[in-house]
Formats: sequence, C-alpha cells, structure tokens
Amino acid sequence: MPDVEGIKEAKMFHFDKLQETQGFFLKGSNSLDWGMKNRLSRIFNPASGRTVMLAIDHGYFQGPTTGLERVDINILPLAPYADTLMLTRGILRSVIPPSLSQSIVLRVSGGASILKELSNEEIAVDIEESIRLNVCAMAVQVFIGGEFERQSVINMTKMVDIGNRYGIPTLAVTAVGKDMARDAKYFRLACRICAELGAHYIKTYYVEKDFETVTASCPVPIVMAGGKKIPEIDALTMAYNAVQKGAAGVDMGRNIFQSDAPIAMIKAVRAVVHDNETPKKAFELYKSLKKNK
Ligand code: R5P
Repeated sequence: MPDVEGIKEAKMFHFDKLQETQGFFLKGSNSLDWGMKNRLSRIFNPASGRTVMLAIDHGYFQGPTTGLERVDINILPLAPYADTLMLTRGILRSVIPPSLSQSIVLRVSGGASILKELSNEEIAVDIEESIRLNVCAMAVQVFIGGEFERQSVINMTKMVDIGNRYGIPTLAVTAVGKDMARDAKYFRLACRICAELGAHYIKTYYVEKDFETVTASCPVPIVMAGGKKIPEIDALTMAYNAVQKGAAGVDMGRNIFQSDAPIAMIKAVRAVVHDNETPKKAFELYKSLKKNK
C-alpha cells in the first residue's frame, strides 16, 4: 500500500508534446486488439516485420517424418534460432520445455491421415487448450478446391470467431491437394478467400511466376511455406524471392530440419529473411557454418 502522506505533486505533463498514436507494423493488422497485436509481435519481429517459423507439425497427419523422429534430439537445438515453432499440442507438452521463450503457433485442425482424404479435417483442439498453452496463433488447414473445401473453410472461420473472443490470431494454411493447381491464380484465390473470411495471416506456397500478385492482393501478411526438401541454395533462393516479393517471412520445415546442417541452414534462412541477405551470401554463410560445426 503506497504511503498517502507527502505525495509529490504531479507535474510532468509535457504540454509541449502530443501523445503519439503509433500505427502497427504488420500489414492489415492495425485495427486488431492489443492482445492480438502483442501475440503477432512475438511471431513477427517488429524490427524486420518478418518471421522465421520452424514448422514441425507434420506428424499430425503423416506420423514420424524424416528428421522429426526424435524432436527432442533433432529439433530442440534448432529452436533458439526460430522466431516461432509451429507444432501440435502433443509434441509441445511432451517434448518442448516450457522455459522456451520462442512463440508457439499451435496446429488446431486435424482428423485425416495420409491414408485417407486429407481435406476431411475438423477443429481438433479446444480454444481452452490454446489459452492454457499460451500460444501466439492457431493454425488451420484450408483446402480451397479440395473435396472437403467448405468444411475446412468453416473450420477456419470458427477459429477466427473463437480466437477473436480471446485475442488469439488464426493462421490459415492453404493446403494443396494432390490434383490441385500450384500457380499464382490458384494461390491468389485461396489466400484472398482466407483473408476475406478473417484469417489474421496466411501460409502459402511460393510460385516463380507472379508471386507478387499473391502477396499484393492479400490484405494480411503472407508467410511462405517451405515444401519438400530441395538443395539448400534453391531453398534460400526461394525464401529470398518470396520476401523480396512481399512475403512477411517463411514457415519452413523439411528444408531446415532435413538439411545436412540444420543449424547452419536456419541461420542462413534468418539472414535472408531478417537481413535481406542475397541467396549467394546466405549460402556461403551456410557452408562456412556447416564446415565449422
Ligand atoms: C502442412 O500442411 C503443415 O502445415 C506443415 O507444417 C508444413 O507445410 C510443412 O512445412 P514444410 O513443407 O516446409 O516441410
């Protein structure tokens, strides 16, 4: 209890300085509430406006993926170099130490396996779990053009509604089924639908041709999905092109944890994303870190 006797008179009013109203650094996010913005600021670095998310949630539909067999051994050493870990509550609780300060994006859709139709997902995690686990966003797969398109879109809109109630952003993950197109026209459609229906940010694939039309026509941040393992120089080039063409970072999994030198690779990805390093220089960094590991 403060002492009410002898209180100093308040006089530091700074009448000559107006209180500043700061805009929020993330595209399309200025009208969100404080908690949402605070969580997004733990995913996206306010200095660069970008993020390096490390995606390790593959097991939720395909079991122990190469590189993720032992998350405790293979992934924990990488975690300090990621801005965010994207994962399931099962791996979070069983393997990730709660002392980790990186933000968490929780996979909340699920229900299908690689043995069945992948788009047949439901919401698989209660909002109370996301609150309890102190996550910074919830990830929902959206299958535009997929067999269960409508169901997956409604999964996302439900999470947006529930997340808005508690200040937790929703990440829409645009999933590409086996027979679905992978061009800018398709991703413009998928990303715009997700944004129009309330997703706070969107994960989508990079396409060589016209990727900038995908980011330009999406009113909220886009992060680039990694995809299957390709040579390191190609993955760094893809990440570079994506951020130069408007992506607010990357959400990469296999191209980091399946690399011959995963720590070197995530550091090289960081250089491209946060420091605008060229792919050539980032690859040199990768090679030198790999040599000295
Ligand atoms: C799949 O849809 C999941 O969201 C994965 O986390 C993600 O796509 C995998 O990352 P990557 O393709 O870079 O291995």
